[in-house]
Amino acid sequence: MDITVNNKTYTVEDLEMPLLWVLRDELNIHGPKYGCGMGLCGACTVHIGKTAIRSCSLPVGQVYGNITTIEGLGDPSAMHIVQKAWIEYQVAQCGYCQPGQIMSAVALLTQNPSPTDEDINLAMSGNLCRCGTYPRIKAAIKTAAKNINNKA
Ligand code: FES
Repeated sequence: MDITVNNKTYTVEDLEMPLLWVLRDELNIHGPKYGCGMGLCGACTVHIGKTAIRSCSLPVGQVYGNITTIEGLGDPSAMHIVQKAWIEYQVAQCGYCQPGQIMSAVALLTQNPSPTDEDINLAMSGNLCRCGTYPRIKAAIKTAAKNINNKA
């Protein structure tokens, strides 16, 4: 089966393998992290199309659509507006959860560019941070939303 990750196509053999293992172990894409292995902590979050999904508990054979990981969002010379806000607020502490946090934030702002506090809390509630960076995450999302709306 072929899958497309960050606009590149790869062939995968073991369709039962969780998408996260395929990304990390087969394709050397290490942005998505292993956290709980049960889809509960959000460290493994990637996008399929424009939707945030947990890659640790999804067999790759069930994936239809383009996969985007944090590596496909932007690069140092052309960062995504959400990544820029993350840097502005120096959100990361240990950093382990942050690729997943950013992917969930991007999915939220793609679907809802003007989220309320409640919308942000709901959309981000599945992404845990053991370092407690939640206030900075929220501030960065609000700034990214403002910058998206100013650009539009
Ligand atoms: Fe350390 Fe979130 S920054 S777990």
